Amino acid sequence: MKNILVTEKVTKSFEGLVAVNEASIAVKENTFTMLIGPNGSGKTTLVNCCTGILRPTSGRVLFNEKDITGWKPHQIYEVGFVRSFQIPLPFIGLTVLDNVLGAMRNPGESPLKAPSRKTWVDQDEKNMERAMDILAKVGLDEHWNLPSSALGAAQLKLLEVAKGLSSGASLIALDEPIGGVDPASAHEILSHVANLKKEGLTFLVIEHRIDIAAPFADYVYAMDVGNIISEGPPRQVLTDPRVIEVYLGKGVEACSE
Ligand SMILES: Nc1ncnc2c1ncn2[C@@H]1O[C@H](COP(=O)(O)OP(=O)(O)OP(=O)(O)O)[C@@H](O)[C@H]1O
Ligand SMILES: [Mg+2]
Repeated sequence: MKNILVTEKVTKSFEGLVAVNEASIAVKENTFTMLIGPNGSGKTTLVNCCTGILRPTSGRVLFNEKDITGWKPHQIYEVGFVRSFQIPLPFIGLTVLDNVLGAMRNPGESPLKAPSRKTWVDQDEKNMERAMDILAKVGLDEHWNLPSSALGAAQLKLLEVAKGLSSGASLIALDEPIGGVDPASAHEILSHVANLKKEGLTFLVIEHRIDIAAPFADYVYAMDVGNIISEGPPRQVLTDPRVIEVYLGKGVEACSE
């Protein structure tokens, strides 16, 4: 299977603090690849270096074999790699549907094409259909007309996934998609993500609650103080003594039956 995302010895330092230290990961296409590690281990920073929020201090980031190191977030978005944030950032004044539509492109936005009303009206209708289709895939179609401020924590996470999908991305990075939601909702969120994988999408998922997320993962990378300390199939990583040590056994037993 092809690697969709590769980091080669990515390092990120903040004034002397090495948040990510020569991290090399490879995300295979059409997988649910999970990045775990205790608080402050560098997970978000590594993903930020991949998606252009931060520029790596050294190392390279490749997306579909193209060197995207140091690219701006919108350029990375253009090539089909998007991310959600640890804290969802919907446009709270807008409805659920409008949030998804807002993440799509319409040629009417182009000053050259805008005068031709037909171009953007047709496209608007197509986008609307596609947006509803996407909302159905994450179980939010019945709530399309609600203001996003009325959504619960789990639904907001799903709206983030929907926005990623609507951009036409092939790789979606999710930062703690089940953080702060109850176990049943967490399971629902991850089931939707697993279903989307069947459509060819790839997910890079940062997650703390490894007991709930591990059953959905194809491959796991574990970080500690900026370093990748273990990688492999979930069972192998979660029973790795180095990983157990950094988590002090917390949540790990649940997956090692
Ligand atoms: N912009 C920044 N400036 C300075 N230090 C930072 C910055 N961003 C992150 N750090 C530091 O880098 C280290 C790694 O942080 P990071 O947010 O990547 O960890 P994380 O694994 O995502 O943690 P969590 O599980 O709590 O989200 C931490 O010590 C953090 O304080
Ligand atoms: Mg984080």
